[in-house]
Amino acid sequence: MKNIVVTLFVNGKKEVLEVTSKERLLDTLRDQLNLKSVKEGCDVGECGACTVILNGQAVNSCLVLTAQIDGYEVYTTESLENKGNLHPLQQAFIDYHAIQCGFCTTGMLMSAKALLDKNSNPSREDIKTAIEGNLCRCTGYEQIIQAIESVSKKVKG
Ligand code: FES
Ligand code: FES
Repeated sequence: MKNIVVTLFVNGKKEVLEVTSKERLLDTLRDQLNLKSVKEGCDVGECGACTVILNGQAVNSCLVLTAQIDGYEVYTTESLENKGNLHPLQQAFIDYHAIQCGFCTTGMLMSAKALLDKNSNPSREDIKTAIEGNLCRCTGYEQIIQAIESVSKKVKG
């Protein structure tokens, strides 16, 4: 039975939600708010497919209980597009062929966004560290790293 009321600020919009004590943020986002960019992979914090930005940090939403994050800000990949324009990271993933099956992509994008929000000038090692919790079975990672690097270079100027 859902009996805990939680207020979240999701992609800039206030949401008042009823949840159970066991409801994961992953379920709240997908099932209550229809944010299907948040993917369900391993369910145990190992694949990163469910990554969102929670109060500025990239986190695995399968490991977060919604009841414990009352008042928090959450951002998903749905927040990246702006008035029909892709975010530079989204465009770079396309340009660098960093997407194959796409299952890891939204989680990768949120890990990359959290990194660039804090550090617009990351080293290659910084990028690798930022996405080390995001598994990709398809790309071999090089195109993903190049895509993120290309955006940081644009930010640099
Ligand atoms: S589904 Fe959350 S880390 Fe894999
Ligand atoms: S593109 Fe398929 S898992 Fe990364």
